[in-house]
Amino acid sequence: MLTNKKIILGVCGGIAAYKAIELMRLLTKAGAEVHVIMTRAAQEFIAPLTFQTLSSNPVHTDLFNLIAEREIGHISLADCADLFIIVPATANIIGKIAAGIADDMLTTTVMATKSPVLFAPAMNVNMFTNPIYQENEQKLRRMGYLFEAPVNGSLACGWHGEGKLAAPESVFESAVMALANKDLAGKTILITAGPTREEIDPVRYISNHSSGKMGYALARVARRRGAQVLLISGPTALANPDGVQVINVISAAEMQSEVNARVTACDVVIKAAAVADYRPVARNSTKIKKNAAVTTIDLVKNPDILAGLGGMSLRPFLVGFAAETDALAENAAKKLTEKNLDMIVANDVSQADAGFNVDTNRALLFFKDGSSRSCDLMSKDQLSMEILDQVVARLAVR
Ligand code: C5P
Repeated sequence: MLTNKKIILGVCGGIAAYKAIELMRLLTKAGAEVHVIMTRAAQEFIAPLTFQTLSSNPVHTDLFNLIAEREIGHISLADCADLFIIVPATANIIGKIAAGIADDMLTTTVMATKSPVLFAPAMNVNMFTNPIYQENEQKLRRMGYLFEAPVNGSLACGWHGEGKLAAPESVFESAVMALANKDLAGKTILITAGPTREEIDPVRYISNHSSGKMGYALARVARRRGAQVLLISGPTALANPDGVQVINVISAAEMQSEVNARVTACDVVIKAAAVADYRPVARNSTKIKKNAAVTTIDLVKNPDILAGLGGMSLRPFLVGFAAETDALAENAAKKLTEKNLDMIVANDVSQADAGFNVDTNRALLFFKDGSSRSCDLMSKDQLSMEILDQVVARLAVR
């Protein structure tokens, strides 16, 4: 996501300064090159060496360090930045930048940069609600500066309220959003994810090993690329992706009615859900007792949601998934035709590092025009990028 991106991470003197370390870890893991600038107060909380070791780059603290200035000083840092993130952003730094004060390495570099700047404020609730602070924030917002709003919670000062630094994962998500190409802006994408559960009685059900990770990754990445995303999800243990409308369902029948109610407003439907193919003919309203000696359960086939969409006269761009344990290419190509899809993502779920319940996947993509594409082992986020690249390219010529 962030390969070759240069990010300047400004760290200010707040108790939440240690959380900037976690953010830096997320950024470097995603491939970014991170350069840290610390204010004098930040160094009271964390030693520069911590950031230096973890970023593998020198930490900048002093505006008047002539040696550093000759090599990579504030102007070259400002020029090379793809994105500037200030975490935690104190009332002081926001006030200074809003007033145009440039009296240390961080404020001077922010003033000189043309890159987007993202603030993640953290402060006492009374400082946060102070009209002086609020006016400074509004002024910066009007000028295009980005903010990751603080959350409600217990504050280090003993107060409870707004002012707690947003989770590093949320700041990371906003950073990725700020840098992403918005090639799906204006598009509405419906994604289904996870398994469905078909109840036998109030305590038992038929389901499968789907974790929902592939569908959630697709939703996250589509949103980063500017799409309006609707995620219809079976039961999973995953957190809702930021900025995505999530509709929770349990059974295939519920998934079908939610999908059908929304499909006409969508440009693209991606069906990553592992829908149960069968459900019990009848659900027992009370728990079936052990001594009832039930040894068989009569099943009935669930409707094929995707095939239903494929039969629409004016249908959105349709992407299916084929989870197979054998004859991957043949089975996937057959489903592409039978369900009248534009594209199908086939993955071999018999492998330990792909398919169900893992963070990685490898897939074969087949298209309506007969072409195909192979995606080697990669993270589900990366595979989502590949899938959406294909969707964008094919939507344009549809
Ligand atoms: O035929 P198969 O179940 O393997 O097809 C998988 C694709 O069809 C997936 O995209 C899945 O979400 C979708 N599907 C569906 N409704 C079903 C079964 C599968 O939409 N009842």
